[in-house]
Amino acid sequence: MDRVALLQVISEGGIAGSALAQRFGVSRAAVWKAVEALREEGLGIEGTAGDGYRLTDATGFGPVSLPWRLHRPVTFLPHCGSTNAEARRCLSEDPDSVHLVVADAQDAGRGRLGRTWIAEPGRNLLFSLVLRPSVPPQLAACCVLAWAAAMAEVLDCQVKWPNDLVTPSGLKLGGILAELQAEADMVRSVILGVGINVNQREFPGLPQATSLIVESGKERDRASLLAELVAAIEAVDTQGPPDLDPWRARSHTLGRQVRIGDVEGLASEVRADGALIVDGTPVLAGDVEMLAEDGCAR
Ligand code: BTN
Repeated sequence: MDRVALLQVISEGGIAGSALAQRFGVSRAAVWKAVEALREEGLGIEGTAGDGYRLTDATGFGPVSLPWRLHRPVTFLPHCGSTNAEARRCLSEDPDSVHLVVADAQDAGRGRLGRTWIAEPGRNLLFSLVLRPSVPPQLAACCVLAWAAAMAEVLDCQVKWPNDLVTPSGLKLGGILAELQAEADMVRSVILGVGINVNQREFPGLPQATSLIVESGKERDRASLLAELVAAIEAVDTQGPPDLDPWRARSHTLGRQVRIGDVEGLASEVRADGALIVDGTPVLAGDVEMLAEDGCAR
């Protein structure tokens, strides 16, 4: 039985189990079992003898609720090593397909510069989206900046170069790990791996981390946030060099004294290829350390 179609029918109004069974050509027991599975995803479905099944809470997060909420195929994994690794595996099987891989938990989450990404299961967003910008490989990094800025717009936060999603005080709400597949002159695809701290309240041993719930006090519906983020990412025009003005407008880095490796000074501009200009020197990769005006790390 197509469970996404079943959820759609239930969401449209009260419908009896027998009518559903007839409509989907299955037994009433099969309908009951499918409804139980939908409830296990967190969806509220009431069933009464008179009114039939009725959707009372649409805030589920799972293999049926996500494609239903996002109106697209989603590979949902309750648990995996890394969604980026899963997306890469899907791409190797079918290089032309469009993929959104979402996990509820990762045990080998990868971060930038060889770090790990740790997130409490069931409370955050962990996803990888395959994108196909029409740019040469040298412009892939600035596409990632543009996608980060689009996400910062949704989250109403800032972007720390290159693409950390941070609060105005510099605490990290989320991060991006982009992995590139490219020919010599053209990007084939980018796996955009995104981790957003959503409903996690504590970050033991990570003093620079925060989450949407810590910052706002409000629990968020992860599926609707995911839908907004994916729509914003895919709305960025990457048919050529992307516009970096939205990144500049949300930058936490420009106009500040920073240190990246051996380079230290004013972060004055972001170049069209995504390089950060620090003290007049273009920097292509690294971690930004914010310096106080006297040159000491903060
Ligand atoms: C960083 O700030 O270092 C980037 C973190 C990126 C983490 C996400 S979680 C989903 C996706 N899968 C991974 O293994 N990593 C990215």
